[in-house]
Formats: sequence, C-alpha cells, structure tokens
Amino acid sequence: MHLIAPSVLSADFGHLADDLEMINRSEADWLHVDVMDGTFVPNISFGFPLMEPFRKYCQKPLDVHLMIVHPEKYVERFCDAGAWSVGFHLEAVEDPIPVLDLIKAKGVRTCLTINPDIDVKRLVPYLDQVDMVLLMSVFAGFGGQKFIPETMNKIRFIKNEITQRQLSTLIEIDGGVNTSNAAELFEVGADVLVAGSAVFGAKDPIETIRLMKKGVSGLVD
Ligand code: DX5
Ligand code: ZN
Repeated sequence: MHLIAPSVLSADFGHLADDLEMINRSEADWLHVDVMDGTFVPNISFGFPLMEPFRKYCQKPLDVHLMIVHPEKYVERFCDAGAWSVGFHLEAVEDPIPVLDLIKAKGVRTCLTINPDIDVKRLVPYLDQVDMVLLMSVFAGFGGQKFIPETMNKIRFIKNEITQRQLSTLIEIDGGVNTSNAAELFEVGADVLVAGSAVFGAKDPIETIRLMKKGVSGLVD
C-alpha cells in the first residue's frame, strides 16, 4: 500500500482551514496529528481543542500519533474526538495490551510506535494485535529533522515478519520523509509515509504529495 499522511504539525495554524483545504484537494490519504505533552518528548504541540477544526475542515481520516506519557488516560478521548486511528509509544507504557483494548473498544484502529533507540524486535509480539506499527525515523518531538538511514533495515525486518506470518499490519514511517527517500521507503516495505515539513514547506505541496505517493524520487523544489 502507498499511503501519504501529511503531518499537520507543520501547517500554518494562522491559516489552518486553508492548509486543510489544500490537503482535501490533494492525493493525501490521511492527516497525521502529532500530540506532544512536553514530558514524553521535550516539546508541546496541541491537544483536544484542535481535533474539532481538524475534523471540521479536513475530509481525510485523522491519524493520531500520541507522544505522551500515560496514553491510557487519553486514548478514549481522542477516539471520541474523531480519530480514525490512535497510536502511542510502546516505550511509554508497561503493557500496551490494555491501552490497545481501550482503543479497540471504541472501534478505532490501533497503532504501536517506537522511537529510533527502541529495538524493533520489541514490536514483534504485538504485530498480530495492532492495525499498524509506526517506526520513527527521527526522535519524536520536532518536525524538520533529518531522516535516520538505519530505518530502512528496520522496515525490512518488520516487513519480513509481517509477510511470513501473513498479517495485514501496516508499516508507517514518520520523520524526515521527503521526495528523495519516499520511493525507497515504499520499496523496502513501508505502507504509510508521514511528511510534515516536506509537504507544508514545499512550493507546491499538492505536487509533492502526488510525487511521494507515486514513489517518484527527486527534488521538486
Ligand atoms: C515528530 C512527529 C512527526 C513530524 C514529522 O515528532 O511525530 O510526525 O511532524 O515532521 P517532518 O516530516 O518534518 O520530519
Ligand atoms: Zn508523528
């Protein structure tokens, strides 16, 4: 699958409706929603109040990425606020299963995420219990960072596990994704690419999204 999820973190919040309208007109599949609490990551983004305008102005499914401690306290509220999928970090919890169960009970898709310093093998026991795994290709916390190349091997490893066990778990990649690495990411097994600065910082965001989705390499700017 070749899905593109622009990260609204890099949108212009003074003209949010315009940016979301652009996303609606584009070939983007989802809107990626980065929630940061200032504790799990050294940055604070936004929370529940913005779920309403996201839902109102954006016609694409909201792919919520929680970079927070104690996700078990908040996942249900994000489901109620209109999330299409809710993901949280494996390293933020002792046991992800009860948290996944809270999301599933709301009928919302689940995603388990790891930062680049967490062993990718730790996701293996959960591959058949989640709709998606998200491999961070930068350390969570900020947009505009440089892609960590080692991510490619992690994708290959997880893709192999998923294929061998005939699972339908999607692989999402988040951080430093752009038109130069999108094609290779899809080739090695990624299904969903998150892109913030590469989309919203582009002269032609719609064309950038189109090229990424097609898996075309090269710079557009
Ligand atoms: C980082 C966030 C990412 C971020 C990606 O903590 O999870 O979703 O917005 O931004 P870019 O694409 O600029 O690296
Ligand atoms: Zn994210």
